[in-house]
Amino acid sequence: MRLKGKVAIITGGGGGIGRAAAVRFAQEGARIAISDIQSDSGEETVRMIQELGGEAFFTKTDVTSPEEIHYLIDRTAGTYGGLHILFNNAGIGHSEVKGTDLEEEEWDRVIDINLKGVWLGIKHAVPRLIESGGGSIINTSSLLGLKGQKYLSAYNASKGGVILLTQNAALEFGKFNIRVNAIAPGVIDTQIIDHWKNNEKKWPIISRANALGRIGTPEEVAQAVLFLASDEASFITGATLSVDGGGLTF
Ligand SMILES: NC(=O)c1ccc[n+]([C@@H]2O[C@H](COP(=O)([O-])OP(=O)(O)OC[C@H]3O[C@@H](n4cnc5c(N)ncnc54)[C@H](O)[C@@H]3O)[C@@H](O)[C@H]2O)c1
Repeated sequence: MRLKGKVAIITGGGGGIGRAAAVRFAQEGARIAISDIQSDSGEETVRMIQELGGEAFFTKTDVTSPEEIHYLIDRTAGTYGGLHILFNNAGIGHSEVKGTDLEEEEWDRVIDINLKGVWLGIKHAVPRLIESGGGSIINTSSLLGLKGQKYLSAYNASKGGVILLTQNAALEFGKFNIRVNAIAPGVIDTQIIDHWKNNEKKWPIISRANALGRIGTPEEVAQAVLFLASDEASFITGATLSVDGGGLTF
């Protein structure tokens, strides 16, 4: 078991990639706090883990709220006696319009969830990770954090920011045995891409725009997250791992 004895928090744990990672972490022996803004889907992830014989609980958390993030981290460390892994995964997309047409409110919301939410997670988790002797933080960026895409200005900016925030935190907290890495998924089969799937013109192009010519599954991303969370990645920090079927090279 690759995460035996470890305690993990997953934000956005009710969704595709977060849920797949939660299940994979549980299979490898971690005890997990699932958090999400949506209670039903978060509770469902907990049920899935319990059916596998794993240990988990749910805490409704909006990653833009410092109070809720602080509570989540305190409750987890209090319940399980420490904290070793934080998967900062919650995120949203936005209306596909030119940057000049994007509403300021939508820009703020995307930056708040996708970028500030990651920083808040790091800010409040680091003291607990230090108390536990170190640990691993994995932040969800995107292929679109590494290259620009028309009509996704706030998403591009937020996910690019996650990559440099990851490098910054790796530098600041490495001395406490805390590793901080990012993943950069390509097109992955979750609800966040439903609007593309329904676009008859775009979908045939988007769904094959990588070296492998197919989209990825949340489980394939979860394998990469598990690796970065585990001691197998003990000398990897500040890195961004692409899980995109070769989308960046395409
Ligand atoms: N699916 C893809 O193609 C893809 C590609 C690159 C990156 N990503 C990133 O992967 C991450 C997970 O997305 P997914 O594809 O699993 O989509 P998803 O929509 O299935 O999951 C996202 C989860 O985040 C939760 N969430 C949204 N706002 C929140 C908030 N304020 N606080 C807490 N939770 C919140 C949602 O309720 C949902 O459960 C996101 O950061 C997304 O940007 C996805």
